[in-house]
Amino acid sequence: MSDVIPAPVSIHPARDEDFVISPSSVIAVSGGDAAQPAATWLAAMLRRGTGYAIPIVPATEARQSAIALSLDDAGASLGDEGYRLTVTDAEVRIQANAGAGLFHGAQTLRQLLPPEIEAESSEGTVQWVVPGGEIIDHPRYRWRGAMLDVARHFFGVADVKRYIDLLALYKCNVLHLHLTDDQGWRIAIASWPRLATVGGSTAVDGDPGGYYSAAEYRDIVDYAAARCINIVPEFDAPGHVNAALAAYPELSCAATPPALYTGIEVGFSTLCLDKPLTDRFLDEVIGELAALTPGDYIHIGGDEAKSTQPADYNAFVQKLTRIVFDHGKVPIGWAEISKAPLSAGVVAQYWDVNDAGRSAHAAAAQGIEVILSPANRCYIDQKYDATTQLGLTWAGPVSVRDAYDWEPGDYGVPEPQILGIEAGLWTETLRTMADIEYMTLPRLAGIAEIGWSQQSAHSWDTYRQRLATHAERWEAMSVNFHRATDVDWTQG
Ligand code: ACM
Repeated sequence: MSDVIPAPVSIHPARDEDFVISPSSVIAVSGGDAAQPAATWLAAMLRRGTGYAIPIVPATEARQSAIALSLDDAGASLGDEGYRLTVTDAEVRIQANAGAGLFHGAQTLRQLLPPEIEAESSEGTVQWVVPGGEIIDHPRYRWRGAMLDVARHFFGVADVKRYIDLLALYKCNVLHLHLTDDQGWRIAIASWPRLATVGGSTAVDGDPGGYYSAAEYRDIVDYAAARCINIVPEFDAPGHVNAALAAYPELSCAATPPALYTGIEVGFSTLCLDKPLTDRFLDEVIGELAALTPGDYIHIGGDEAKSTQPADYNAFVQKLTRIVFDHGKVPIGWAEISKAPLSAGVVAQYWDVNDAGRSAHAAAAQGIEVILSPANRCYIDQKYDATTQLGLTWAGPVSVRDAYDWEPGDYGVPEPQILGIEAGLWTETLRTMADIEYMTLPRLAGIAEIGWSQQSAHSWDTYRQRLATHAERWEAMSVNFHRATDVDWTQG
């Protein structure tokens, strides 16, 4: 039980209480519809791994070996995402106050099973033993996210779903999609169709472009929701907009229309901020993103606006955050936005460690909530070390230890204002899902543990041993992870 990542709040093993999943095991559900996503996900995972039928039945009808999912009053300390997992030789029981808690409990159960559960059926060769005992668990932070940059290189729906599956394994609950940048616009906007068809037509190095139709985006949103993950779309402005300007030169102040861009420099593009057309553009893009996105948040970027006048920048941030609120959503911006006076409820995301924490402090001083993504800890597009072929180096290297061995409280943001943490995966150098996986694991597991686990559980020495045990699971999942040298993988 002690190898679970993120580390649970408490673990009490019980000897001689192991449960064995058998061909007659059922998933017994009580507590109504909110239990269904966890039950459906767990049944699919167990059926695939074991080859057993594993029907889902109402708890009142379960007469045999049961994995019980029970939504009821499981105690206020568990919140909406916590769970209690009890394993005896007669049953496995997951109790929670809400569906997300059951789902996270199911992820813990998954990690307690032999790693072969991750592969196509190994029926007959593996005993599906769940070790006896009790785990009580709930997260430290509400926001445990990962950002995927689909703008520098485009990744299709199947890749994004596979990424969502990796996030679910480590109890992340947010996928932030960086949908727009200088090199590509990746979401169809009906009122401005050339954004996707022209702005989305290429990628870094002239690699193939692409974009999500509204139906594809909704498919991603639904797939994520079934895994208790919220999709946060990012429309990055007023800089990082070259793809939009190439599609609609009238949004630029430049005399010559900008060409499509396939390089990786930043900071050269800006919307023309004093045109009424730009206001209409902002309102219509945000309106469509808000209509497509059931979650509460829309990310407005705001980073590296080096070609926007400072006075214009502040007015722009205030205008765009207001537009997001007017469409019923909560605006998030990279922490540069905290240069502007911000309305209550805006969220800032700290990333730029080169500013020595100034933007995080400025956000905290305005009393708003902050997501921490310090680049030298959380940017998993940075090289692991000097030998890593993929990735950038400006904030790195970021070793497996760097990604794990840090404390969110060290950034000058009072604990109640820390909404959570987020890994960032920029894709200037990443072209394939295998590239994404190589940069993501093992580092995502450590960042997820920082977001979920109690500070008192923090220990690099025990973490690296627990992490080593996950390699077999990643192999069974056919994940192209990196056997980083700061972990002794033979201990797994
Ligand atoms: C960023 O890395 N420019 C947010």
